[in-house]
Amino acid sequence: MTRLFETEDGSHSLFSEEFNVSYHSKFGAIQETKHVFIEAGLRYKAVLGKELRILDIGFGTGLNAFMTLLEAEKRGLSVDYTGVEAFPISKELSDKLNYPELTGHPEKEEIFRQLHSDNWGETVQYTETFKATKVKKKFQDLDFKERFDIVYFDAFAPGSQPELWEAPVLQIMHDALVKGGVLVTYCAKGDVKRTLKAIGFEVEKLTGPPGKREMTRATK
Ligand SMILES: C[S@@+](CC[C@H](N)C(=O)[O-])C[C@H]1O[C@@H](n2cnc3c(N)ncnc32)[C@H](O)[C@@H]1O
Repeated sequence: MTRLFETEDGSHSLFSEEFNVSYHSKFGAIQETKHVFIEAGLRYKAVLGKELRILDIGFGTGLNAFMTLLEAEKRGLSVDYTGVEAFPISKELSDKLNYPELTGHPEKEEIFRQLHSDNWGETVQYTETFKATKVKKKFQDLDFKERFDIVYFDAFAPGSQPELWEAPVLQIMHDALVKGGVLVTYCAKGDVKRTLKAIGFEVEKLTGPPGKREMTRATK
């Protein structure tokens, strides 16, 4: 069972009974996404006039995808987004998520619903500056080679799914990035940072979102 709850900034998140973990920080789903993925990832790599290719691990509630779409429009950035997910949420849940309203974009409600309802494996141009492809696959089975400028590494926490934070999966992320590409994650665990370094990333420790001291950005 997966149930919906409200985080401290008013935005919704989900709690997975199966993995015994929530999809976002209880201090604020929108706040966390903005800080970790939009500011430390997208804004950091943004270059006007160049298409940014983003790999989201994983698609989940679609919040990273939606906030990336908003940011691309706001800054005139061109984004080619790929969101991977092995366990898509139900329509009943995605219909309830309050992200269009809470981000101040109720006029984008329809686009947010479409992000969820559109077919897996199809590329759709949602706005002038944002196109997206959803890939229904396990992270462990990805084999992208030098395709992306940014990886949003937003897997469930290591306490819940340790195997997703070990060398084999992190190596898949390294392979997927172009040289100079970055992986950003909310996680700042010592073990994870050591593994990222051992794979060949340069690792930076950044200030975390509210409620979390640190986060990590790793550059290939
Ligand atoms: C922290 S949540 C993602 C949050 C998402 N970025 C969002 O904004 O909602 C982690 C996601 O990874 C998915 N997941 C867990 N294990 C997976 C695996 N082995 N392969 C692919 N997806 C997986 C979960 O279903 C969940 O949607």
